[in-house]
Amino acid sequence: MFNPKDILKEFSHSTKTHDEVRQGEALVIDAPVSTNGRKLYIESYGCAMNFSDSEIVASIMQDMGYATTSDYKEADVVFINTCSIRDNAEQRVRNRLKEFGAVKQKKPGMTVGVLGCMAERLKAKFLEEEKLVDMVVGPDAYRDLPNLIHQVDDGNRAVNVILSREETYADVSPVRLNSNGISAFISIMRGCDNMCSFCVVPFTRGRERSRDPRSIVQEAQDLFDAGYHEVTLLGQNVDSYKWTSAEGNNQMEHTNFANLLEQVALIDPTLRVRFSTSHPKDITDEVLHTMAKYSNICNHIHLPVQSGNSRVLEMMNRTYTREWYLERVAMIKKIIPDCAISTDVIIGFCTETEEEHRDTLSMMDHVQYDFAYMYTYSERPGTLAAKRYADDIPEEVKKRRFNEVMAKQQACSHARLQEQIGNVYEVLIDGLSKKSDHDYAGKNPQNTTVVFPVDARFKPGDYVYVMIEKCTPATLIGKIVN
Ligand code: SAM
Ligand code: SF4
Ligand code: F3S
Repeated sequence: MFNPKDILKEFSHSTKTHDEVRQGEALVIDAPVSTNGRKLYIESYGCAMNFSDSEIVASIMQDMGYATTSDYKEADVVFINTCSIRDNAEQRVRNRLKEFGAVKQKKPGMTVGVLGCMAERLKAKFLEEEKLVDMVVGPDAYRDLPNLIHQVDDGNRAVNVILSREETYADVSPVRLNSNGISAFISIMRGCDNMCSFCVVPFTRGRERSRDPRSIVQEAQDLFDAGYHEVTLLGQNVDSYKWTSAEGNNQMEHTNFANLLEQVALIDPTLRVRFSTSHPKDITDEVLHTMAKYSNICNHIHLPVQSGNSRVLEMMNRTYTREWYLERVAMIKKIIPDCAISTDVIIGFCTETEEEHRDTLSMMDHVQYDFAYMYTYSERPGTLAAKRYADDIPEEVKKRRFNEVMAKQQACSHARLQEQIGNVYEVLIDGLSKKSDHDYAGKNPQNTTVVFPVDARFKPGDYVYVMIEKCTPATLIGKIVN
């Protein structure tokens, strides 16, 4: 079953940890009701924010009377919510569109829509390239879906890829797709104002904008009231969240990310709060102190490093150095000693030398990441790096360096898990383990999967204390000690 807590990514080469990630799975509601007799199939790729957007799309389509289905062959409307982050992410979408096209040829009434980042990147060109696509809709245009669907029903092809400076879909109540009823994503902001030279996101998602904190807290409260026990606050750079509102007497009220975290944590001590992604240049001590103050804010920070070498970081336009990053890590370990730290690494960025690659390996030795998402560099059209630098590291060198980084991370993840044998963790039960109906699986605050024998006293959604007895390379194994 889809686990919405996992941060969903597209990746060039995968690791064991990444196998947990579900890409391109049909997203369905538990109790679909169609009031217009039509069915929607929606499939999502890319990051957690894209999955969260699919829940906005499902909500808008539900208001139009659509029910969701897990079988695209029986759908009237097929949506694919796409990712452009690396070339292979786009190739997967193209292949999937061929499969949808084959069905559409036999069923001409079927509407095929491309949503998300690839729609935004390619715009109307998509319609020229993919003859069977009827609609191209960018991430800020989902409110226009009813109109676009009518255009297609009238026999036209429809495009809306206008990016907005304001849209946050704050008032759209997402329909929870493939939900386990325990964990949910909440988007707190959209877009990105950083210009990392390798990255297509600023072009596909537009300018950064934060969502009204009242609507975020209300959404978290509604989820809690509906029985959810965990929310993950999402943004490309959550630490730059900021909201200013004019309160009574024209006093300006400012909310930063630390304030928002606190407001969500205060909903209830049994509501776990997670967040992703933190940018090393922006994560503040105030956020770390807020995490330390509230036990329901989970002790895990995803802090993408990208490279361990300051020259490469500068070419990447990450705006921090190796030393800055190491100082932030030291501060995390000081303020929250048992905090898990995970990362993203790009391997084989333009001009990266062997020595600079070794700086990334030594960074991993210093930090001892709990887990990492690793990618070989993929040049993206239109980005600063594509314009300025040659993608000059040969593919076989990228692969060899990737294998070195992966081997180091696997050894480190395993060692980190072994250190935890003997510890007792509070675990939120997600459901049965993937491997055995006799075991439950859940996450500890550090976001590691913990597996332990089913105990009839407890059900999914309950918290239990688990003593860790052993581990596999990616999982802790133990027994309930409540
Ligand atoms: N906003 C987050 C941040 O700044 O860390 C992450 C955004 S991106 C959706 C997720 C990861 O994809 C990045 O951290 C980076 O490691 C990777 N990535 C982005 N562009 C890439 C590219 N052109 N080639 C390979 N990996 C890339
Ligand atoms: Fe891309 Fe950088 Fe923005 Fe992250 S912070 S989304 S890597 S531009
Ligand atoms: Fe991909 Fe867009 Fe997310 S490019 S990683 S779906 S913001």
